[in-house]
Amino acid sequence: MKNIKPFILPVFVLVFLFLLYNFLYRDLSEPNIEFIPEMVYSVPYDAYSSNPHFPDGKTLRQPVKGTIARGYLPQYSDSKLTEENAGDHLFNPNKSGKSNLLRGEFVFRNFCQVCHGDTGKGDGTVIRKGVPPPPSLQTDKIKKMTDGQMYFIVSNGKGNMASYRSQVSREDIWKAILFIRTLK
Ligand code: HEC
Repeated sequence: MKNIKPFILPVFVLVFLFLLYNFLYRDLSEPNIEFIPEMVYSVPYDAYSSNPHFPDGKTLRQPVKGTIARGYLPQYSDSKLTEENAGDHLFNPNKSGKSNLLRGEFVFRNFCQVCHGDTGKGDGTVIRKGVPPPPSLQTDKIKKMTDGQMYFIVSNGKGNMASYRSQVSREDIWKAILFIRTLK
C-alpha cells in the first residue's frame, strides 16, 4: 500500500487534463447528454407534427365532410335575415329552466355586463368610464322584442355594440337571452 502514494498526484493530473481536453474541445453543435429523453421526445405523433401515414402528411385530421362537432353549431348565415324579420325565422330552442338560466347568467356576466350593467340598465363599468351607454334591457321595447330579433342584434352587432358571433356560441346567445328576460 505504501508505494501507491507517489502515483496519486500524477493520476489526478492526468484525469484533470483529460476532463479539461473534453471540455475545451467538445462539439458545440451536438446537444449535451440528455437525462430521461422520453419525456421530451414523445412516442406518439404530436398534433402539429408531420405524419407519413396520411396522404396530406399532417397529423391533425379535417372534420368529416358534412359533420359538425358537438357544441359548435355555426351561427345562422342567411343574408335575407334582418333585425325586423329575424323573429319570424329564428326561435329560441331552450326553455327557461334553472340550468339554462344559470348558463345564460354566466354568459351575460362575462360578455355583456361590462356595458349593459348587472341588471341590464345600461350602467356597466365601462359606461362609468365614458363609453356611450346602451339602452336599458328592461324596457317595453325589449319585452315586445322577440328572442329571434335579440339573437340577430347580438350575433350581428348594432351601433356601438360589436358582433358576438365569433365569441359566444349559438347555444350561449340563446341562453343569455333567456337570462335577459329575467332581469328586474
Ligand atoms: C361594448 C358594450 C356592449 C357590450 C359588451 C354588449 N352590448 Fe349590447 N348594446 C350595446 C349598445 C351601445 C347597444 C345599442 C345599439 C344601438 O341601438 O345603436 C346595445 C344594444 C343591445 C340590444 C338591443 C337593445 C335595444 O333596445 O335595441 C340587446 C338585446 C343587447 N345589446 C344585448 C347584448 C348581449 C346579450 C350582450 C352580450 C353577449 C351585449 N349586448 C354586449 C353595447 C354593448
